[in-house]
Amino acid sequence: MDITVNKIKSLKGEIEIPADKSITHRAFMFSSLTKGKCKISNFSKGADCMSTLQIVKQLGCSVEYVNDKELIIDSKDALKNPLEPLNCGNSGTTTRLMTGILAGQNFTCTLYGDESLSKRPMKRVIAPLELMGAKFNHKDYKLPIEIAGSKLHGIDYVSPLASAQVKSCILLAGLNAEGITSFTEPYKSRNHTELMFEYMGADIKIEGNRVCVSKSQLNPVDIDVCGDISSAAFFIVAALIVPGSDITIKNVGINETRRGIIDVLKSMNGNIEILNERVVSNEKVADLRVKSSDLKATTIKGSIIPSLIDEIPVLAVAATQADGITVIKDAGDLRNKEADRITAVRTELQKIGANIEELNDGFIINGKTELTGGCETECYHDHRIAMSLYVAGLICKKPIKINQFQWVNISFPEFLDLSKSLIIS
Ligand code: S3P
Repeated sequence: MDITVNKIKSLKGEIEIPADKSITHRAFMFSSLTKGKCKISNFSKGADCMSTLQIVKQLGCSVEYVNDKELIIDSKDALKNPLEPLNCGNSGTTTRLMTGILAGQNFTCTLYGDESLSKRPMKRVIAPLELMGAKFNHKDYKLPIEIAGSKLHGIDYVSPLASAQVKSCILLAGLNAEGITSFTEPYKSRNHTELMFEYMGADIKIEGNRVCVSKSQLNPVDIDVCGDISSAAFFIVAALIVPGSDITIKNVGINETRRGIIDVLKSMNGNIEILNERVVSNEKVADLRVKSSDLKATTIKGSIIPSLIDEIPVLAVAATQADGITVIKDAGDLRNKEADRITAVRTELQKIGANIEELNDGFIINGKTELTGGCETECYHDHRIAMSLYVAGLICKKPIKINQFQWVNISFPEFLDLSKSLIIS
């Protein structure tokens, strides 16, 4: 599906943001490890989370929809040997977290994925799991990967990378390993696994950037998944850069390890109010009111990067409108996402008239640039590139075409409808 995006007058109104993808993956997977029933409310319906749900079913859990917004996962007892290979689709989170779960089971199975996922690096999880006693068959650490379930033992792993996927994989393996498993990372990555483990009664200790887990059984619980700040990010930036905008985004997760986008945009003079703060299923949630603002350039690097890693493409769009030069560094892992997001963002934003330069690990963006548009753009089979281009299209002088916009369905199938409900053209 190719779409055309036109310049708009403003964004006005109120929306409720759909459920967080990272938390939904964890809710589905961790429910499968309990011995009981978990009700998951307000889950993400994106294709990535549906890949996880399908795998959970193939591993022997039953899934019953109560209604459109609630489902119950009944894990019955231990996971069962799936009859077929398990399809992770486009989802890195499904692959890396499931690898940690499957490494310690008493059966052998295979994970595979689509073309983009089959190119993504899996050594980051395979190497530490091998140190725990796990056994794999693979070619060059890429999918498809055969996982031969083995008896695992705890390790003290010091990760060179701040990565929630690697951390969660090791902690999940640790639930099923003899002794204590610890994971230390250079900066703190998103901590949804730790928070959900605590909520489900696992034996877990957190000291700064080090997390320890002992062999534990998770308790069945009900989980209400908050809205996804990574999805809200597109509307936050759109409202800031389109003049005359004033929107409210309800039910957004504002966990400190995810809210880097809000902190950075506020430091850039973005008018973002955090309202009605509350805690839902052990996660902080709020409503956000965002009004158009005169943004100032900034430098984004170091420890804040993991807390906004998925939002960098749309932050780059914001930076094209900020006064001054924005520098983004220490984000080299963006090249290992669904696409090489550094080259993709630089290429497509340049096409529409942005003044942006590519670094090995980020960008230099010269702001206050009028985006000319009037061209065709590509999303590289990447949902976040597609939505970032859409936001840029809202301020381009001439309409832009975005090819294969259907990739948005990976995380945010409701995106076009919600955006149309806010647009005043
Ligand atoms: C995720 C962690 C991040 C993020 C991804 C989802 C997660 O990846 O980019 O979209 O749910 O744990 P890394 O942990 O590899 O940085």
